[in-house]
Amino acid sequence: MSGYEEERRKREKIVAGLHERASKMTPAELIFKYKGIVYPTVLCSEATFQAMETLKAREDDVLIMTYPKCGTNWSIQILNEILTAIHNKEPTKAFGTLEFGKPETFEQLNQMPSPRLLASHVTYGNTPKTFLEKTKILLILRNPKDTAVSFFHFTNKNPVLPTYESWDLFLRDFINGNVIFGSYFDYHLEWDKHIDDGNILALTFEDMKEDLPAQVRKICEFYGLTLTEEQIKLVQEKSTFAFMKEKYATTHGKMGDVFMRKGEVGDWKSLFTEAQSKEMDAMFEKHLAGTKLGEMMSYGKYCTY
Ligand code: A3P
Repeated sequence: MSGYEEERRKREKIVAGLHERASKMTPAELIFKYKGIVYPTVLCSEATFQAMETLKAREDDVLIMTYPKCGTNWSIQILNEILTAIHNKEPTKAFGTLEFGKPETFEQLNQMPSPRLLASHVTYGNTPKTFLEKTKILLILRNPKDTAVSFFHFTNKNPVLPTYESWDLFLRDFINGNVIFGSYFDYHLEWDKHIDDGNILALTFEDMKEDLPAQVRKICEFYGLTLTEEQIKLVQEKSTFAFMKEKYATTHGKMGDVFMRKGEVGDWKSLFTEAQSKEMDAMFEKHLAGTKLGEMMSYGKYCTY
């Protein structure tokens, strides 16, 4: 069996186990709170959060931070291709985001060779301190309206997450921060306070859609990596939505289409009513307008009719 096939089967088995566990749980049991934030029970645990603190950061780690549905898988793919081109071998990766691992994952990751490509949805305050001190962090942003729509479809199609009877009910929870990984607004406000610390590069989903090579160049400059134009073109080809959708169909089975849903900017118009749109505008104005990250999101361009 090839390494790839072995990896695929391992993932399939783990995911089937998670789905089986979730199928026996009530909606209330599917989530739990840790330090005031909601998390998915079958993916995260208090023990994992504690063990995450034992993960030792390295200067050559690449850590991608995202609020859920802002382009985690896409940026992992981009960085995977960049690092593979530089090192002639794939980087070490965790299974999904760090907080989805079992406690023993971190011991294994501490032994794994560099470069390591890691990702997480936790807040700035819950990020292991050594990473904040040592590692260059890539923060991916996405406008809140598209994020909410993507999140709604994802939670309703993912057996390990709570299902909502309606978009209206989901949006209420999203706006109030009662969704897994907490409030979109608090998450970004917290990172915003540290955006000038010198070790964080923020990019947006929308800019990645508009001009991926330009974002790849920014990433390379930030990490001190050099790619030829030909290599950048290859990274771009291997990070298109179509390419990734095909890849995920083989690696993630039925869940492939759940992760690779539409990949568009502006899909919020398919679900938001005018009143809901205005409510989100008011939330953005209250919390993120005028902040550095809020400015980067180009809210006027991407979130108005
Ligand atoms: P949609 O649900 O709007 O389609 P995450 O990886 O953080 O869960 O984010 C998922 C979102 O990123 C989904 O958005 C998914 O389709 C989109 N996405 C993933 N890969 C992409 C790509 N290569 N190009 C554009 N969008 C992509």
